[in-house]
Order: sequence, then structure tokens, then C-alpha cells
Amino acid sequence: MREVDAYLGLGANLGDRERALRVAVQRLQATPGLEVVACSSFRESAFVGEGPAQPPYLNGVVHVRTALPAATLLALGKALEREAGRALPAPRNQPRPLDIDVLLHGGQTIDTRELVVPHPRLHEREFVLTPLRELGVDVAALARPARPRVIHDPAEFAAVCTGWHEGGCQIGVVPTMGALHEGHVSLMRLARAENDRVIATIFVNPLQFGPKEDFAAYPRDLQADLGRCGAAGVDLVFAPSVAQMYDPGFCSHVAVGPAAEGMEGALRPGHFSGVATVVARLFALCRAHRGYFGQKDAQQVAVLRRMTRDLGFPLRLVECPIVREPDGLAMSSRNVYLGAADRRAATVLFRALCAGRQAFAHGQRHRDALLEVARTVVIAERRASLDYLELRSEPDLEPLPAGPVDHGRLLIAARFVDGARPVRLLDNLSLTGPGA
Ligand code: PAF
Repeated sequence: MREVDAYLGLGANLGDRERALRVAVQRLQATPGLEVVACSSFRESAFVGEGPAQPPYLNGVVHVRTALPAATLLALGKALEREAGRALPAPRNQPRPLDIDVLLHGGQTIDTRELVVPHPRLHEREFVLTPLRELGVDVAALARPARPRVIHDPAEFAAVCTGWHEGGCQIGVVPTMGALHEGHVSLMRLARAENDRVIATIFVNPLQFGPKEDFAAYPRDLQADLGRCGAAGVDLVFAPSVAQMYDPGFCSHVAVGPAAEGMEGALRPGHFSGVATVVARLFALCRAHRGYFGQKDAQQVAVLRRMTRDLGFPLRLVECPIVREPDGLAMSSRNVYLGAADRRAATVLFRALCAGRQAFAHGQRHRDALLEVARTVVIAERRASLDYLELRSEPDLEPLPAGPVDHGRLLIAARFVDGARPVRLLDNLSLTGPGA
């Protein structure tokens, strides 16, 4: 490998900070294959990360010229951190006697599990930017990485994911149709906590809308969605157009089985085949390790769980709890279309489910009696037109026969017609599980 100019960020906020930085520079000077060209002055700065307050840091940047790969510089940095007394691996955001980051390595871009170069938060950190400027680096000319990165082209999306796989990253994907709300954000946050890289997909999928459904009118606001994705720590948003997702010859569809029968499947013929087709295509493009879906669409989760198993995707499907408004209404992208009176009335879904669950808690065990308790609540709300109310088995949502039940999930769908456009809302609640 030819020699490059690389920049290493040094920091310490425990013990004799200045000594630790000076010793690190000396060690770098003594490293074969590496020339220390210059070292910035050291500056004190307040701790800026998450978590409890910490002592202030002393920071500086070292300019080195080397043919060593960035991964070797990272390993060298870790060795010096250990030598300075840092126990590694260490939890994030802990005080440290020495911290060494590879900030820049020639013009190289690296995106692996261990290393992202240029350093992803370089532009946010004055304690790095000021020393870099002192060393003559034109920081304004350094491309500011877009966070999240937005990709529209499926081939480019697949290529970035392949790079992440090769770099050893665990990948989480949150498929969405946009119009993001706190429910989606909760999926992204969980994905962030469990993976090295987080993808959100934003694609209003025509295959899952019937001819009389609201495909054209489905809410779309990419800029607002990107803001939410960025705040939730998403690394990459895949937002293809319909033509990019489905080329003109596209004709393969995933057929779905009994999990798609009844309820949404009965009212929306072809819907779950459309959902399974797009999700299979997304899984195939990104080859994520985990896929995150909200429990509000419980039948969708059951269909996708079966599809994932049947088609052999090596992915764990993570089912996440429903996120509710303070009055109990399940969050949904379509809630924005409820008129004021319908919005108030829409809490009836949750109230009905809770009534059914309460009856179960008080000893009612008969399927039809439990359904009747919930139905009575819905029928009392004249603004709601009930599409279905069912009690199904958990976790696969198979129909439960009439008679006594010892568990189950109540699922409901109802229409509200008084707002800007008719709105169908779904909700569900386990008879035995936690709150939502
Ligand atoms: O739940 C949704 O938003 C969609 O059905 C999904 C899973 C993104 C597929 O288009």
C-alpha cells in the first residue's frame, strides 16, 4: 500500500491526561512504518456525549504519514489505550485514560463494524475540527456525510449492504411506507440498540393496495420522514420509486397461505401477497439480520413470519409493541385523516379491546361471550362501522373454535367516515399479554 496522510484524534479525561497524550505521541513516533508529521496543541473541552456528567477532556490530533492500513492504525490505537490503563472492550461513553480515533486515512472511505472513516461525527466535534485546522486540513472541503444516507437505486442499496456484510456489521431493517410516527420511531430505536447498521425503507408499495384503496392519497412527506430517521439514529434510508422497485418486466409474486385468510385478508384481497412480495424483495436486497415490524398490524406480522420461514431468509423477525396516543388510540399513519369528532370516537377500538380483556381477567372464558363484551362497546359508538372483531390464537393468529379459551388475541378493524377521507383503523390486544 502506498503512503497516505492520516489523522488520529487523541483524548483523555482520567488521570494525568497530558502525560497520557504525550506518551501516545511518543509511541506513535516509535512505531515502524509510521512517521509523525505534526501534532496539534492540546485543548480542554467539556464532555459532550450521552450519559452522566464526566470530567473534561484534553484533546489533540496527530498527523501521521504511513502505508499502514486504517484497520492497523485502529489496532495500534487500541493497544496504546490498553497500555494507558483502559480496559477494553469498554462500555460506550465511559471516562477514559486514553482514546484514539482514526479520523482520516488518505481519501479513503471505510464503513465496517469496527471502523467508519472519515469519522462519522467529525463535523460535530469542535475539539477535533480546531486541531485539524491547526494542522492545515481544509475541514470545510471534507464531505459532510449525509445522515441518514438516502439511496433510491436498488443496486446501489444492495452494494452498500454487501459492504456492511463484508465489514462484519449486524444489519437491522425497518420497512415502512413513510408518514412516520412514534410507532415507527420506536422500531428504529430498537433496531439502533441491536445492530451496527440500521436501515429504514420508505416505499408506498402499490402491490398491497386494492384498486379502490388510497394508494395515490397515502400520506407522503420524505423530508419530514428523513428528519425522524436521522433523530432515531438510522444510517441509511432506502426510498426507491415504483419504477426502480419494480422494473417493467416485474411479474413474480409471493403467494401467501392461511395466515392471510380472514380479517384484513378477506377485506383486502391481494393485500398480503403485495406485502409479502415487497418485504421479500427488501430482505433479498439488504440481507439484514433483523427485521422490525409493529404489532399493530398483527396479521401482517403473522404472514411475514411464515414467509420468512418458508422462503428461508436468515433473518430474525422482531415484533414490537403497539405505541399508543395518551388516550389509547394506536398510532397509525392514517390517523391524520380523522376529523375531530372521529378522532375522539376512534378510542373506541382500544376501549372495546380492554373491555374484552377485562372480562377475561374477571373469569369469562367463552370465546363468543368475550367477543360480545367487546362488540357491545363498539356498537355504542355510532361513528364507528365495525369491519371485524375476532379472537384468534397466539402467536399465529389461527381462528379459535367456539367454546372455552385459555388465551388469545382480540383483533378489531373499524371505519370512520366523517373526516377528509374515510379512514380504516386496526388495533389488537392480547387477553393475557402485557398492556398493548
Ligand atoms: O406496514 C407497512 O408499513 C407495510 O405493509 C410494509 C411492511 C412496509 C410493506 O410495504
